[in-house]
Amino acid sequence: MTLDELRELAETEREKQTQVKHEIHVCTAAACLSQRSDQVKASLEAEIKAHGKEDCCKVKGVGCMGLCAAGPLVSDESNGRLYQNVRPADENTDTKEIVASLESEPVERLSLSPELPFFKEQKKIVLENSGKIDPERIEDYICAGGYEALLTALTEMRPLEVIEQITKSGLRGRGGAGYPTGLKWSTVAKASPHNGAKYVICNGDEGDPGAFMDRSVLESDPQRVLEGMAIAAYAVGANRGFIYVRAEYPLAIKRLKIAIKQAETMGLLGANIADTTFSFKIELRLGAGAFVCGEETALIASVEGKRGNPRPRPPYPAQEGLWNAPTLINNVETFANVAPIIRNGGAWYAAIGTEKSKGTKVFALAGRVANTGLIEIPMGMPLRHVIYQLGGGIPDNRRFKAAQTGGPSGGCIPEEYLDMPVDYESLASVGSIMGSGGLIVMDETSCMPDVAKYFMDFCCTESCGKCIPCRVGTVHMHNLLSRITAGEATPEDLALLERLCDVVRNTSLCGLGQSAPNPVATTLKYFRKEYIDHIHHKRCTAGVCEGLARPGKDDKPKGKPAEVTA
Ligand SMILES: Cc1cc2nc3c(=O)[nH]c(=O)nc-3n(C[C@H](O)[C@H](O)[C@H](O)COP(=O)(O)O)c2cc1C
Ligand code: SF4
Ligand code: FES
Repeated sequence: MTLDELRELAETEREKQTQVKHEIHVCTAAACLSQRSDQVKASLEAEIKAHGKEDCCKVKGVGCMGLCAAGPLVSDESNGRLYQNVRPADENTDTKEIVASLESEPVERLSLSPELPFFKEQKKIVLENSGKIDPERIEDYICAGGYEALLTALTEMRPLEVIEQITKSGLRGRGGAGYPTGLKWSTVAKASPHNGAKYVICNGDEGDPGAFMDRSVLESDPQRVLEGMAIAAYAVGANRGFIYVRAEYPLAIKRLKIAIKQAETMGLLGANIADTTFSFKIELRLGAGAFVCGEETALIASVEGKRGNPRPRPPYPAQEGLWNAPTLINNVETFANVAPIIRNGGAWYAAIGTEKSKGTKVFALAGRVANTGLIEIPMGMPLRHVIYQLGGGIPDNRRFKAAQTGGPSGGCIPEEYLDMPVDYESLASVGSIMGSGGLIVMDETSCMPDVAKYFMDFCCTESCGKCIPCRVGTVHMHNLLSRITAGEATPEDLALLERLCDVVRNTSLCGLGQSAPNPVATTLKYFRKEYIDHIHHKRCTAGVCEGLARPGKDDKPKGKPAEVTA
């Protein structure tokens, strides 16, 4: 397919859409599907048919609209109406009422205002098509401007020019470490092929508890990731790519398979794309669901068919990766940013965000906030704004206690930093990280030593066991945290826990062990009093730890108080 043919197809699709008066969108991403949104879609279609409205009303299954907790979500694109918690026909009359009200007043009891800050204050680049296009129809993606960037790059730009735009955009890897994407691409571009090969890998492992950003992008707009990978492959000189997705993401896998097939059929992937000399083939690889397999060297081993153990770096994958060939490995969200950057130019992207953290970031907003779901915000938005405006604040008039960012590799940020901008540097300055975008809000009902224990439990279970500091150290730290939350720890245990934070961080082989102490270190730094309370007063202020005293309820310390010097 040539660029002209692509534009013609987009125009035809647009024409078709303008003939439909009511395009009703039903979210068919994982969270809404688990609430039977496929049945909601079927009910709406049946109702439209029963009223003979097929000519002017069309129902479309789309990707995630963001406010997943209120799903299934349904929208009418013609008049901007949005409905929440819509049930299928066998449960109640929601779908009947929606169809009956298309030309009259909206159904009040289901209405959700699209004017809510949750929707209004987002800046969507990665998620620009989520909730708008059918992820299983490539024509929908093309109609939204899809593949224009790839074909423009192939026919009008040299590989070096593509890399220049990515570098100019300031895009940094969204998989956690925030490494400059342009720099990584240019390293792979400069490296000599090994046995004539270079590879591109998309990291869709997403193992952090609470994170679902990458899954949602793959479920909602898979073609965008394929297009980003193809542009990257052209830029660095690769002809073969792999998408590594954990097998627990069946819907993402199904939609990726459909997307790859459709792109190949249209000549947008495969041999001689757009009649050029550039060929690029993408294959899927399924991971068995180990957190460590998201670490790039472990992931590469896993794609090679070996056990997913990390290895020391250097050499970095950019120089020596898959089957010893230079390999570009980027995160799902990183690739999802590529097409818009090429379409609009690097300078456009660099104008969004902060000085060192450009563009937007997708977060999975979870925990004690009114609005939980998926959000995309410009880098630099203050944390308070994210939690109280987009998130709608803390339910039940409770008090904010901490925000946990970056999952098991991240840390807990206390109230005093609520006005901090959300960007790579600011988060690092308080001991946390952006990570891949998990953002868990905690209120006074969370016990911080217990939170630290939860993440340490995750890390020691997920440790691959290759190096001793991580294999033994994380278990030891977990045991100490268990003693603390059980009210059995001594001040010496606390000192040992702090020492282990340093040892495990500084001597582990890979990022899993190196970052595992972060939740412990930040809770120790900002919520030390809670540790002291558990150890010295046998008291859990949050009332979480079983068997310990709770202030205001049974304020008597249980057991013998420990001597505290800390
Ligand atoms: C234990 C561990 C797990 C990781 N999991 C992921 C993951 O699920 N997805 C991801 O993109 N990066 C993950 N990373 C980071 C990758 O190693 C790598 O830095 C990233 O995929 C590079 O892409 P980017 O430059 O686009 O961020 C993980 C790192 C570690 C140490
Ligand atoms: S730090 Fe942990 S996960 Fe990483 S290699 Fe060592 S044992 Fe394995
Ligand atoms: S999955 Fe339906 S709104 Fe997110």
